[in-house]
Amino acid sequence: MSTEKSNTEKHFLCDDHDIWADEIRFFEVGREKVMVWRDDDETLYAYSATCPHQDRDLEETGKRECVCGPHDDDKTLTCTAHSWEFDLESGDGLNPSGPQLNEYEIGVENGEIFVVINGGASND
Ligand code: FES
Repeated sequence: MSTEKSNTEKHFLCDDHDIWADEIRFFEVGREKVMVWRDDDETLYAYSATCPHQDRDLEETGKRECVCGPHDDDKTLTCTAHSWEFDLESGDGLNPSGPQLNEYEIGVENGEIFVVINGGASND
């Protein structure tokens, strides 16, 4: 029998009907803040709410808009601290390219939305 402890944890966020299409919501999961977007097709995406540039809280600095021009406003999140932009469908950096939002696995079971946090999300 293995004594290894799994370092991956599944966390309940809310009921499935609590996030509407085209809505972004934020959740505290232990020490992590998770940003969840449900697109118009009801697909769920979950990312860390921490901007990879200088760790600003995207709940405070995130805005649904492409300020550099060519991208779809509805699918772009701009961190207004320094205008870095991210594709909400992939988490990829659009401007600049390269940096990415940290993505979490997300799903629905028995009418409840959950995320999986690797490394846990304890309050330690
Ligand atoms: S902290 Fe987000 S763009 Fe600088």
